Amino acid sequence: MNEDIERVLFDENELSKITKSLGQRITQDYKNKNLLIVSVLKGSIIFTADLVRAIELPSRIEFMQTSSYGSSSVSSGCVKIIRDIPFSIEEYDVLIVEDIIDSGYTLKKLVEHLKQKNAKSVNICTLLSKPSRRRVEVDVKYIGQEVPDSFIVGYGLDFADKYRSLPYIGVLKPQVYENQEV
Ligand code: IMP
Ligand code: MG
Repeated sequence: MNEDIERVLFDENELSKITKSLGQRITQDYKNKNLLIVSVLKGSIIFTADLVRAIELPSRIEFMQTSSYGSSSVSSGCVKIIRDIPFSIEEYDVLIVEDIIDSGYTLKKLVEHLKQKNAKSVNICTLLSKPSRRRVEVDVKYIGQEVPDSFIVGYGLDFADKYRSLPYIGVLKPQVYENQEV
């Protein structure tokens, strides 16, 4: 195990089970729909890669990216879209794929934006959720697992762009990020 990790929350086997079960639910729900997967860069790339292979339906895959400004560990609520979908989404049933929902500001902004662009429908699939940290209400259709309020990394999730390539998800030792920007 990486020396900066305090404990493993989900190993490869557990992540695979979570992803496959989400994929099965989405496969059932999106039959006869025009599925556009919108993966939120960069944290959800590994989850997206596994999830799309667990969805037994044709789909189109696109990427969006946001940035949020403000203090380090508390989201400011000021979310800016820095990469958008470069075509009309009016024909699509959009499924936003995110790594983790924390305050909810990012997903609230993305849902509002995609609805404004007249997507046929907009739903959210997040691998993880930290319900105790929610600041704004967001309707999340698919949640892989709820997690406690600690900073977690791996399987795409980063701290300062590190640890994304760990094959498991674990709690980062607090001494790694104390006094640093998250
Ligand atoms: P929100 O806007 O506060 O819901 O923040 C969501 C974004 O913050 C996620 O897409 C992640 O990129 C990041 N984030 C929140 N919590 C964690 C964590 O524990 N580890 C890594 N990234 C996190
Ligand atoms: Mg993210």
